Amino acid sequence: MQISVIGSGYVGLVAATCLAELGHEVICVDSDSAKIAALNAGETLIHEDYLQELLSRHRGNRLSFSTDLRAAARNSVVVFIAVGTPSAENGTVDLSCVEAVVHSLAEAMNGYKVIVEKSTVPVYTSERVHNALSPNGHAKAEFDVVSNPEFLREGTAVTDFLYPDRIVVGSGSERAAAIMREIYAPLVDGSYAQLASAVPKPEPARAIPMYIETSPRSAELIKHASNAYLALKISFINAVASFCESVGANIEEVSRGIGSDSRIGPEFLRAGIGYGGSCFPKDVAAFRAVTHEFGFEFPLLDEIKRINDEQRIRFIGKVRSALGTIKGKKLAVLGLAFKDGTDDVRESPAIKVIEQLLKEKCQITAFDPAAMDRARQILGSRIKYAADAYAAMEGADALLILTEWKEFANLDLVRIKHVLRSPIVLDGRNVFSQAEMAEAGFSYFSVGRPALEALRSLLKKGQSAR
Ligand code: UDX
Repeated sequence: MQISVIGSGYVGLVAATCLAELGHEVICVDSDSAKIAALNAGETLIHEDYLQELLSRHRGNRLSFSTDLRAAARNSVVVFIAVGTPSAENGTVDLSCVEAVVHSLAEAMNGYKVIVEKSTVPVYTSERVHNALSPNGHAKAEFDVVSNPEFLREGTAVTDFLYPDRIVVGSGSERAAAIMREIYAPLVDGSYAQLASAVPKPEPARAIPMYIETSPRSAELIKHASNAYLALKISFINAVASFCESVGANIEEVSRGIGSDSRIGPEFLRAGIGYGGSCFPKDVAAFRAVTHEFGFEFPLLDEIKRINDEQRIRFIGKVRSALGTIKGKKLAVLGLAFKDGTDDVRESPAIKVIEQLLKEKCQITAFDPAAMDRARQILGSRIKYAADAYAAMEGADALLILTEWKEFANLDLVRIKHVLRSPIVLDGRNVFSQAEMAEAGFSYFSVGRPALEALRSLLKKGQSAR
């Protein structure tokens, strides 16, 4: 199949590369000529497992890069739109990049095409795309608009694309639906996974994805509702974690107990300082805005965000009470990325916590295994950057863990205690076990797991109440 993918960001580049891996002829287009030059020179621009390998395998062969959208579209039967859909001020989605692409496509129509929305867009965008492609009801050629949302996570984007839980295709036309089935056939019939050269299937992934065909509107809504639901799960567990702190329960035990119900499931029940990234904050706001636009109030979505914001405020409160005053204190921060396994700092809770601590006149030295450069673009010289985790802690009044990098859990506790000025650790991601921290002699504060001191005072309260 001849395919164009417009946009070479996370979604576009991964989709283009993986579609080439499935055997299609793909042109990936971006208006940024520097990006296209870098991709043509073999640079991946983003760090994702297997991406470099697949790019080297297909670049100059089944996969090419270009800035010429019209030429790419003319050569393709299927055009995936994977350009950015950022948030506007009021949470609505800024569709200007999608509109610009569609405007160019309208001029390039030279035969039947399937236009696929891959970017996350609000419900009814397919109608808008349709109308823009046929002004006054006349298009240059026949076409169909399909919604095919992408559910990839940063860090596992390639395997999420090649071994997804589900593929959702929203189409109002059998002709387009048949073409989409053909595109994904190697994943749905399992033939891709059988290839000797296939990217190996990660352990928890389904061997065969569910292939879900819907209307375009349902597909658009599935994407927003999925992300909002995952964000809801995180906010729910974070609210329960706060209550655990009030009553001396342990959120990890509670999460395990809740998540073992197969109707709930264990994923996305990790308490912490809240979610971030390029999707959840934007999509929760966009979903709220689109429901409001259609006259349906959905205040639960506001509550998801409110709880998420509150998690950071609560955490900073813990820093304050652990240190007495925080003005002028030297703090070591481990973790800048919005989650582990990525260098992405967009909407990172870690950066937001740091911004607040800087307002309160703390001095911060930070380390992150991958996100230092990107964090520097935001925080500049307002904080110091350490060469490794221990260097960040040198002489600090407390250590703050703000991203759930697995390697932080393997740090040497004796050495940490030795380099810190005072043995105070505030763990915003529950990376360490309470028992080992107590044994190592730290004053240890985490999320939803009351500190030993707090447990003692709760016990006293209970006894005097009785
Ligand atoms: C998410 C969705 O998972 C993906 O399907 C969608 O296509 C894009 O958005 P991503 O942004 O890469 O993917 O990150 P994800 O792994 O989902 O984590 C999002 C945030 O939630 C991170 O900040 C993470 O730290 C936080 N999180 C996640 C928790 O705080 N607790 C959890 O239990 C899980």
